[in-house]
Amino acid sequence: MQPTHPAPDGAGLLREILAINESLSRLKDLDAILDRVLAESRRIAGADAGTIYLVENGRLRFGYVHNDTFNREGDVTRDVYADFTLPIDSTSIVGHVAATGQPLDIADAYAMPPDAPVAFNPDFDRRTGYRTTSMLTLPVTTSQGTVSGVIQLINAKDDAGRPVPFSAQARTVLPLLSTAASVAIERAIMTRELILRMMQMAELRDPSETGAHVTRVGAYSAEIYHKYAMMQGIDETLRKKTKDLIRVAAMLHDVGKVGISDRILKKPARLDPEEFAVMRMHTVFGARLFANSTSELDAMSGRIALNHHEKWNGTGYPGHLDGPADTRPPGPPRAGAQIPLEARIVALADVFDALGSRRSYKAPWPDEKIIDLLRSERGAHFDPDVVDAFLDIFDVIAAIRDKYAEDKPGQADG
Ligand SMILES: [Fe+2]
Ligand SMILES: [Fe+2]
Repeated sequence: MQPTHPAPDGAGLLREILAINESLSRLKDLDAILDRVLAESRRIAGADAGTIYLVENGRLRFGYVHNDTFNREGDVTRDVYADFTLPIDSTSIVGHVAATGQPLDIADAYAMPPDAPVAFNPDFDRRTGYRTTSMLTLPVTTSQGTVSGVIQLINAKDDAGRPVPFSAQARTVLPLLSTAASVAIERAIMTRELILRMMQMAELRDPSETGAHVTRVGAYSAEIYHKYAMMQGIDETLRKKTKDLIRVAAMLHDVGKVGISDRILKKPARLDPEEFAVMRMHTVFGARLFANSTSELDAMSGRIALNHHEKWNGTGYPGHLDGPADTRPPGPPRAGAQIPLEARIVALADVFDALGSRRSYKAPWPDEKIIDLLRSERGAHFDPDVVDAFLDIFDVIAAIRDKYAEDKPGQADG
C-alpha cells in the first residue's frame, strides 16, 4: 500500500490529471481501463480497496474490484468477474450516489447518523471478515453531466496502514479524474460493441461464433496471458499493455470466416479434404483484414487470426506465409515458439470454449474431460507453459464462463 502523499500544488495536480488522462487514452479494452481508473483513484486517495460500477439498462452493473487486504499485487481473482447489478436508488450507497450525482464521503461506515439519506450494508464485512471504515463514493459523470458509473473507494490509510478518513486532497482531485474516466470508458464500450457487431456479421454466417463465445475467448485469453506473464516474470508495463490488446484482438480470431462460402461454412456433414482446405483459409482471410495497418492492435489481431490453428508440435495450419498479404501457398506449419505467443494462448482458449459449449453435433463436455484432454495435449497441440497458466487460474476461467454464459438474456447477442 502506498503511503498518502503530500497534496500537490495546482500545477502539479493538473499535470497529474493530464498524465492519467493520457495513460487512459492509450488503453483499448474496457476492463483494462476500469482496472487503471481504480488503480489511479486508489493511489491518489491511498485507499485499500475500490470497486467500480457502470450504468447499464437503468441499473448499476458491477465492473471491477481491487482489494489489497485480500489479494496480492498482480493476482487476478474470480471476484473481478462477479456478475450482479444494483438499482439506482437509496437502497445502497453506490445506488444513492448514482441517483443523486453527488459524491458521498463517509468517515466511519459504522458510525453513520441514523438520519443519513442512505444506510451502510455490512453484509460484505460479515461474510468476509473485512472491516470497512472510511468510504468515498463518487459518480463518474460524462461531459454532458449524466452519471455513467460510480467509483467507491474504501479505507484510506495513514502511513502506518491504519484506516483514516479520506483527505481533502482526495475529495478535490478525484472528481476531476471522473470525467477523464468517463470519456475513456465510453470509448472502450464503443470498441467492444463495434467488435461484437462485426462478429455478429460473422455469426450470421457461422452460428457457432457467437458474441458470447468471442467475449469469453477474449477474457480467457487476457487472463491466461496475465498468469503466463506473471509466471515468466514479464515486466509490468509490457504485461499490462499486452493484456489490454489481447482481449480485444482475441475476439477477432475467426473474423476471416466472413470470406468462406455458406456451402462450406454451413455444411451439415463432415468437410471433404478439398472443402477443408478452403475452410483453413479463414486464418489467412482474417489476417489480410489487418495487413495494411500500423496499429499494434491490428498487428496482434492479424497474428492471432493467422496463427490460432497452429499447433505447438507443428501439425496445425495454415503454415508459414511472408506476411498476411502473401498469396502463395503457405509453407510448412509453424511450431513451438515460432507461433506468436498470443496465438498460442487463443488456440487454447478457443478449443476450451468449443469443447465446453453445446454444438449441433455434441453436448458440452464436462470440465474433468476437458482438463484431461488439455493435459494430454500439453506439449502436443498446446504450449506447455500456456496449459500450466490456464490450469492455475481455472477458478477465474470458470467465473468468466458463468459471467458470459450463452443463454443469459442480453449476453448471447453481445
Ligand atoms: Fe478459427
Ligand atoms: Fe472460435
